[in-house]
Amino acid sequence: MSYLPIKQLLQSTETGHEVTVKGWVRTKRESKNAIFIALNDGSTIHNIQAVAEPGQFSEDLIKLVTTGACIAITGQLVESLGSGQSVEVKATNIHLYGPADPEKYPLQPKRHSLEFLREIAHLRPRTNTFSAILRIRHALAFAVNKYFNDNGFFYLHTPIITASDAEGAGEMFRVTTLDLDNLPHTEEGKIDFSEDFFGREANLTVSGQLEGELGALALGKIYTFGPTFRAENSNTTRHLAEFWMIEPEMAFYELEDNMNLAEDFVKYVIRYALDNCTDDLAFLENRLKEEEKTRKKEEQSDMSLLEKLRFVVDNDFQRLTYTEAIDILMNSKPAKKGQFQFEVKWGIDLQSEHERYLVEKHFKKPVILTNYPREIKAFYMKQDADGKTVRAMDVLFPGIGEIIGGSQREDDLDKLMTRIHEVGIEPEGLWWYLETRKFGSAPHAGFGLGFERLVLFVTGMGNIRDVIPFPRTPKSADF
Ligand code: 4AD
Ligand code: MG
Repeated sequence: MSYLPIKQLLQSTETGHEVTVKGWVRTKRESKNAIFIALNDGSTIHNIQAVAEPGQFSEDLIKLVTTGACIAITGQLVESLGSGQSVEVKATNIHLYGPADPEKYPLQPKRHSLEFLREIAHLRPRTNTFSAILRIRHALAFAVNKYFNDNGFFYLHTPIITASDAEGAGEMFRVTTLDLDNLPHTEEGKIDFSEDFFGREANLTVSGQLEGELGALALGKIYTFGPTFRAENSNTTRHLAEFWMIEPEMAFYELEDNMNLAEDFVKYVIRYALDNCTDDLAFLENRLKEEEKTRKKEEQSDMSLLEKLRFVVDNDFQRLTYTEAIDILMNSKPAKKGQFQFEVKWGIDLQSEHERYLVEKHFKKPVILTNYPREIKAFYMKQDADGKTVRAMDVLFPGIGEIIGGSQREDDLDKLMTRIHEVGIEPEGLWWYLETRKFGSAPHAGFGLGFERLVLFVTGMGNIRDVIPFPRTPKSADF
């Protein structure tokens, strides 16, 4: 009989025929009359139960059927008498692919801490929690591509190795083939990058935006979806050194169109997960409920995971300007009582405590903040007529903070050049970017969504290291 994924088998309406299931043993339970084996192959959160008669198989074989072992079971698919599943397999043959010594296999059928599981990231996809997260992550990635494809965007593959610093933040990983023990030097004693692989300094990209803009000014609407690298030394639950970013860029879009797209897009992908990841979300919702029970009452969330997701999908995001947000914050209780760690005044870069107050306490829903002071935003953002602010937008989510950052772009060459000089960027390196403003410049806008922050929100997990298969963070790049 051919091999079917467990997900498909569990949906069988017909029984009586012979099937083969292959997967990893989750648990084995032995009673006098029967041996129950719960098998999982990763296709679904649910296990299939196989039932074997004790005398039917050699004791040596059954001894090796332990948690983590990989086996194939052939037998008749029958209606299950036990609760919890509709069908099960009456085993007639068990084939052992690979045993897993119970003395050494680290994943035993009990609750492991997320910290411990991070240390065994090579095995954690075999747990219910991580397999659910990875399936949801896949569904969200698929939804991202589907949304843009269905809406006339083209997927543009922007380079990972770059010689420009898109965000001007300078937190980049260098790419080099120079011999670090024997660096070539120029006459002035500086490192001679002309001898390096690319004949110049090169880095891993912090954003595909600048190349994305080139695409939008030719194809109309594009998006990028690729790995992004930031060498910031932020050891937080929201930062990775390697993360995936989705960056749409649209010709003829202004700030308002950009906001409308961002809101419609995130709602679509969250709704996609609600519609297509029902079992995995239900599992994670329960997991979260259990975890919340161990917390203090005031730290418990008043909404379940699914309620939170539905709330975001069903309600308009609150839109306001940075200046309006500063007014709200200055008049807030925590500001008056001196409870904010960072003082609030016009011009500051909002701290996570301020963003969380606005989203979680004041508006109690996602917020889109616009028109930030130009001094705290990147050089490419379109300047407002007041000369003080730029057409920036950040989307802030409950429990996450900033999930999207974007803007309308400066399309006026003179204004862009002035800004480039003000912030001290060498225009020579950006000659190709500037040519789009020289030849056929057009209003355009775009944004970047941090994919892991989205997965974090949808799964209800608390640490970004747990929503990417193999996290890269300061001092950690195992696996
Ligand atoms: O706000 P950022 O820095 O914006 C840009 O890079 C623009 N070029 C985007 C654009 O307009 N095309 O980053 C965008 C998003 C953030 O809102 C956040 O969700 C995520 O990327 N992000 C990170 N996610 C995980 N780890 C990090 N270290 C992140 N830094 C940013
Ligand atoms: Mg940002």
